[in-house]
Amino acid sequence: MKKEALWVFVVVWGVACFCGSHGCQEQERVALLVLNTTLDLTYSEYTGGSYFNCCSWRYVECNPATGRVTKLMLSHLRYYRFGSKTWYLNASLLLPFEELKSLDLSSNSIGGWIAPKEPNLLSSKLSKLEVLDLSDNSLDNSILSVLSTIPSLRRLLLISNNLSGTLHLHGIKNLSHLENLHLDGVHLKHAGTVVRALGALSSLRILSLQSNTIEGSITTQVDHWLQQWLATNHK
Ligand SMILES: *[C@@H]1O[C@H](CO)[C@@H](O)[C@H](O)[C@H]1NC(C)=O
Ligand SMILES: *[C@@H]1O[C@H](CO)[C@@H](O)[C@H](O)[C@H]1NC(C)=O
Ligand SMILES: *[C@@H]1O[C@H](CO)[C@@H](O)[C@H](O)[C@H]1NC(C)=O
Ligand SMILES: *[C@@H]1O[C@H](CO)[C@@H](O)[C@H](O)[C@H]1NC(C)=O
Repeated sequence: MKKEALWVFVVVWGVACFCGSHGCQEQERVALLVLNTTLDLTYSEYTGGSYFNCCSWRYVECNPATGRVTKLMLSHLRYYRFGSKTWYLNASLLLPFEELKSLDLSSNSIGGWIAPKEPNLLSSKLSKLEVLDLSDNSLDNSILSVLSTIPSLRRLLLISNNLSGTLHLHGIKNLSHLENLHLDGVHLKHAGTVVRALGALSSLRILSLQSNTIEGSITTQVDHWLQQWLATNHK
């Protein structure tokens, strides 16, 4: 009887190790399971997917060598269960994804991020995050101060959100690696000021501002800014 119990233990332990070595990290899997309470993350057993290996789940990509999650494609995964009910993302759930390079959370009715209490956690844990798509949510200007704590970002998409006014761009200038910024479909006031503030982004190469409701006449200011920007960035 005792021997049997031992065997059961060995088998369970063996299965756990086997799954572990072929799967994702346990903290990453746990975080994804928590996210699955609000997003629909599925896997298909027919194509070799397993509950224990989050790298086999749809919308999740891992580095095969390390088993760490590198890409999460979580666009439009809430609507089916929650319609357009606003979601406040607890950003602490993202902290286990230390190798994450690309995160797509577009079209999920996100109203805001609840930033971790410790201010440097996002920058230290998400230090590989380069591409972030938050388009088509209900984010307001406060997202900019959260995002400014992720200086690794190179490509940021905030198309069709509830950003408005002159924006608080003091923080965003910390995004010194940002090359590609999409702010289409927002409501900018005094766009000249906004555009000038964006001039502080030293790596910026592409700025998209299509379909904006822009107040005030901006062309001369933008022209002036563009000339300055071209002069400093494209010598
Ligand atoms: C996520 O939750 C749904 C049910 O809400 C379930 O069907 C699905 O299997 C879960 N995904 C994972 C990876 O556990
Ligand atoms: C956010 O998630 C973290 C980690 O799971 C948890 O400790 C914290 O209490 C959560 N915060 C809120 C406001 O739900
Ligand atoms: C957008 O922001 C404005 C204030 O800046 C607020 O009055 C409005 O309710 C917000 N809309 C949505 C859809 O969150
Ligand atoms: C911007 O960077 C400076 C210096 O690294 C830091 O002190 C400041 O808190 C950062 N601002 C934000 C909003 O993260």
